[in-house]
Amino acid sequence: MRTPRTVFNRSRHMDEKSIIDGLKKICICNSIQKKVILEQINNGVRTVDEISKRTGAGSGSCKGMHCIPKIREMLDESEKISS
Ligand code: FES
Repeated sequence: MRTPRTVFNRSRHMDEKSIIDGLKKICICNSIQKKVILEQINNGVRTVDEISKRTGAGSGSCKGMHCIPKIREMLDESEKISS
């Protein structure tokens, strides 16, 4: 049964989960968190190059080998949600 308390707890759990998710490092080389990339996407940035310029993601020692595919995936996911 859904009581106001269980709804509140579920909502709180989702908030905590999204906060923790946002702290994950997308760009390990430059220590850039997922929330930083999401902020750019939410501000309307739609290309990997632009996100890289604005955040520094992809400019580390691996030259984006690790993070660029993840950023591309996040952009694709954002496109799916908005269409
Ligand atoms: S993980 Fe982003 S440049 Fe290496």
